[in-house]
Amino acid sequence: MRSIRSELVSRLLMENDLQIQPIERAETLPSAYYTDPDYLKIENEAIFSKEWQLACHESQIPNAGDSICRTIANNPVIILRTNEMEIVSFYNVCKHRGGPMSIKKGTTSVLQCQYHGWTYLMDGSLRGVPQFDRVELFDKKDFGLRPVQTKRWEGLVFITLNENPKPLNTVVKGISERISPIRLSDMEYHITTADLIECNWKVYVDNYLEGYHIPIVHPELATLLDYKNYVTETDDFYSLQYSPFSSNSADNPYNVEDGCAYYYFIYPNIMLNIMPGRLQTNIVEPAGHDKCRVIFDFFYTNRRQAAEKGTTESDLIVSADIQREDIDICEAVQLGLRSDVYDKGRFSVKREMGVWHFQKLVKQSFSAYLKHL
Ligand code: FES
Ligand SMILES: [Fe+2]
Repeated sequence: MRSIRSELVSRLLMENDLQIQPIERAETLPSAYYTDPDYLKIENEAIFSKEWQLACHESQIPNAGDSICRTIANNPVIILRTNEMEIVSFYNVCKHRGGPMSIKKGTTSVLQCQYHGWTYLMDGSLRGVPQFDRVELFDKKDFGLRPVQTKRWEGLVFITLNENPKPLNTVVKGISERISPIRLSDMEYHITTADLIECNWKVYVDNYLEGYHIPIVHPELATLLDYKNYVTETDDFYSLQYSPFSSNSADNPYNVEDGCAYYYFIYPNIMLNIMPGRLQTNIVEPAGHDKCRVIFDFFYTNRRQAAEKGTTESDLIVSADIQREDIDICEAVQLGLRSDVYDKGRFSVKREMGVWHFQKLVKQSFSAYLKHL
């Protein structure tokens, strides 16, 4: 990876801004972290190239030869199901002149570049090089696809560009036990929606991480939630928001009989919204320093039954309504952060523990990055 100049990084990451204070005394991240394009360059190296990223759920690529593409820190990645039903990933970059791959038509185990047709096997090795016979000093062994580390957990597929990442199990420890008897691996993929939002990716994450805004931004939702019992818990690399639905609400927005829902945030940009029989994942991808793309994937333990009961349809409607309200406030906040009069704010100890925890992890990533410059 091309590193940005170390003097620039040291100027951008001031020691004072990276100090971690208890929430009672902490300030929010400086506004420049949300509005200056140089910080995204640092984040790509310090965060997105280092951490595990959610690629998909196994049920999104159920058959041999199925694939899905993601972009991590400006790197295109292709995730594939092999003939042996393994899931493998590669940088989706052909070693000829950088073209993208897809599965070769009529096969399930050959990748073909979509530019000049070079072919690669599922271990990444280069196989077919059409019309290349007079080329000298060319050894196919030197032109294989670069693999990307891939791990599965509870039916979810994670990838990382880091060749020496922290174990995925330490990142997600305790989640399976906490949500039991719900099993994420039982979920079946239903549909994907996505929004391009005019705010820095951290504005969207900060907003997700607190229920403080619910009474103002989501007044309808507020009447349905048991706001007094809204709880935020933090672990090393994730936080959990848990809100029982109000007992006097005859009809909660999700028709969940026992009223339990878990909203997990896994650092740096993964959200798992879990209810009995249902999973919705959100991936927040930076699309420039002042834009992000948020991808929503919907899953059900029994997809056909959920569709027959109208649950899939109503989930989409409820989710789109809440998302619209969140998009409007996040885009307005981006303008405020860009203004001349705002730099840093403070946290509600009662309501913004998740935001503080996320920003602490961002600071820790930056400090670790500075140490290895
Ligand atoms: S760029 Fe892939 S075959 Fe030319
Ligand atoms: Fe919201």
